[in-house]
Amino acid sequence: MDTHNLIMQDQEYLLHTYAKKHIYFERALGSILWTKDNQDYIDFGSGIGVCSVGHCNSFLIQNLTEQLHKIIHISNIFGNDLQIKLAKRIVELSGLDARVFFSNSGAEANECAIKIARKFGESQNRYEIITLDSSFHGRTIATLKATGQEKFHQHFGPFPEGFVVAKNLEHVFELIGDKTCAVMLELIQGEGGVCAFDKKQIQQLSSLLKQKGLLLIVDEVQSGVYRSGSFLASQSYGIKPDIITLAKGLGGGIPIGATITTLKNIFTSGDHGSTFGGNFLSMQAGLSVLDILEKEYDNKLIDSRIDVFQSKISELLKTFPHLFSQSTGMGLMLGLQAHNQEIFEKILENSLKERVVVLKSGKNVIRFLPPIIIQKEEIQEGFERFKKACEKI
Ligand SMILES: Cc1ncc(COP(=O)(O)O)c(C=O)c1O
Repeated sequence: MDTHNLIMQDQEYLLHTYAKKHIYFERALGSILWTKDNQDYIDFGSGIGVCSVGHCNSFLIQNLTEQLHKIIHISNIFGNDLQIKLAKRIVELSGLDARVFFSNSGAEANECAIKIARKFGESQNRYEIITLDSSFHGRTIATLKATGQEKFHQHFGPFPEGFVVAKNLEHVFELIGDKTCAVMLELIQGEGGVCAFDKKQIQQLSSLLKQKGLLLIVDEVQSGVYRSGSFLASQSYGIKPDIITLAKGLGGGIPIGATITTLKNIFTSGDHGSTFGGNFLSMQAGLSVLDILEKEYDNKLIDSRIDVFQSKISELLKTFPHLFSQSTGMGLMLGLQAHNQEIFEKILENSLKERVVVLKSGKNVIRFLPPIIIQKEEIQEGFERFKKACEKI
């Protein structure tokens, strides 16, 4: 089908929920995508932080293929050895004394976290969860309400009660009250401008919540699984949250969600569940991704890629002071803040013309979420293209 027909049929048959670029990719390898007419694009987005081990990773393919031939799904009324293996691995890597619930997406992982917090607070009539302005926690009704960006709330009320939005971290301290059961936040706000919170303030908040016997939920759907440079951004921040959520990069492209909690006995049978969550395919994907990334981390390969990527971002900031005001983020979750909307839109447009995929975030921030295994030559080529995109402004 030619592109014109694809666009017509996309508009005819799909609900119009995405501001879509009608570029149709057909195949991919590592950090490179190819269109049907063989145009190559460097992928600095990895499907919004999903393809952590790159596209068509041969180890992942082999393990998934073998799994497909063995068993894909049974249901959670039977035991599943791969679920046990992956949960054990995640708990060990997290350094927490915790248990894991598996689901299929970031929003679901966060829904589970919210349910844990509500059940935890139930006996003391504590049900309020404080979330932050500019946060993003998902698209279900509860996680939308937890999302502190008003623009997402239009049209979809009424929302469940018990979510309070703090303007900033200082405000969180002020809002903690006798109805609070938890604070929920991203350490690096992925959709809200790739902003990393101050480490000291986060540690103070974590200590205060522990003192008060309240929960800290850290949404690591985007920052988790080595994106920040450590397995968890929480580890880089030196905190031990009560609940951590993962999704995106954990499955390397196969849908998965995971809620890790130190409240090991919070749920009893029937409290929570998922039809697809924890199926053999996604568990195999999670195990394979961790096999790859753990090795890369131990061999300091992730650190060296972060150094190269970040030095390129610093160079851009120096070369184009008239375009960018600052760089944000950490690890391989990085942003470049454009001076204004016009520059921002132009850079996005030019980047696609130069065939490098970058993402948007917050107000005028160009977001970089490359595959965690991105190779130095791909980084080099991607930034050459991005530089050309900037030079044409
Ligand atoms: C921090 C964070 N939480 C939750 C979500 C929702 O994840 P999903 O789209 O898999 O439901 C996202 C998605 O972008 C996210 O970045």
